[in-house]
Amino acid sequence: MSLQPEKRTLILLRHSMMPQNAQYNSATMIDYQDQPILEVTGLNIFYGSFQAVRDVSFAVKPGEIFGLLGPNGAGKTSTLSAIEGLLKPQSGRIMVAGFDSARNPLHVRAVLGVQLQATSFQSELTVLEILQLYAGIYGVPMSKERISGIMKDISLEGAESRRFGQLSGGQQQRVSLVIAIIHEPRLVLLDEPTTGLDPQSRRKLWERMEAMREKGHGLLLTTHSMEEAESVCDRIGIVDHGRIIAIDTPQALIEKHRDDPEVISASRRGKITLEDVFIGLTGRSIRS
Ligand SMILES: Nc1ncnc2c1ncn2[C@@H]1O[C@H](COP(=O)(O)OP(=O)(O)OP(=O)(O)O)[C@@H](O)[C@H]1O
Ligand SMILES: [Mg+2]
Repeated sequence: MSLQPEKRTLILLRHSMMPQNAQYNSATMIDYQDQPILEVTGLNIFYGSFQAVRDVSFAVKPGEIFGLLGPNGAGKTSTLSAIEGLLKPQSGRIMVAGFDSARNPLHVRAVLGVQLQATSFQSELTVLEILQLYAGIYGVPMSKERISGIMKDISLEGAESRRFGQLSGGQQQRVSLVIAIIHEPRLVLLDEPTTGLDPQSRRKLWERMEAMREKGHGLLLTTHSMEEAESVCDRIGIVDHGRIIAIDTPQALIEKHRDDPEVISASRRGKITLEDVFIGLTGRSIRS
């Protein structure tokens, strides 16, 4: 929700600001294996006098899929936007691959791949033009074979000449995801990447995320799907009213909270699930 204004323009700007000497280099990834790829410390974000993010701290390691879960308005997109540099936090430190986002924003952007909740491209551009545009910006060679490979990978073979605006919501999402990772970024931010995808596309995306994890990339995603969090996330952070109220592996969270009275009362079928824990911790009321 929110964070809509000028998003498209900002996305284009973001890519065009990448420094020439800060391209992704797979060799450096090995050097940083022990360091968090993302370290957020004491993050505070305000919109005017309203505080959307409160003292948020967490880290994502290379080869880890970290999920941010939280009710609508909890502050997930705001957190991702600050990591990407679209939003200036009032305080806190964001380190990406060893770069301080406040001091080296261009270096941070060069190692980041982002798909925000409402990522969009000019609707009149064709899929091929979008691929070529972003490949060019990142200096990624784009042969005919590579393009067909990508199109096959996102199950849009032969759709190169279709305009972005003519694709279905799920198809658009698949294109924006492939653009987010076209330069093999060391850290990938995905804001509700599977919302609106059909089960086949969702499975495919999970596989792609797992393949990136295998290669040592770090992934930070937000999701409202507890099934997704349990299936693919190594660790999750539950955010409520701008604060992280729990961080652990999905299984450890279930074990830790299975006897909480609120969690037991949220349980529908006797067996405690991650969703029961989530509702037990964040409450039943729908957020305004
Ligand atoms: N540009 C903005 N101006 C003012 N308030 C904003 C702005 N963007 C977000 N907010 C507010 O900040 C809070 C956090 O919003 P955010 O988009 O980060 O939530 P979220 O966790 O991503 O929610 P959702 O699950 O609905 O996507 C909400 O109360 C929202 O209304
Ligand atoms: Mg959001």
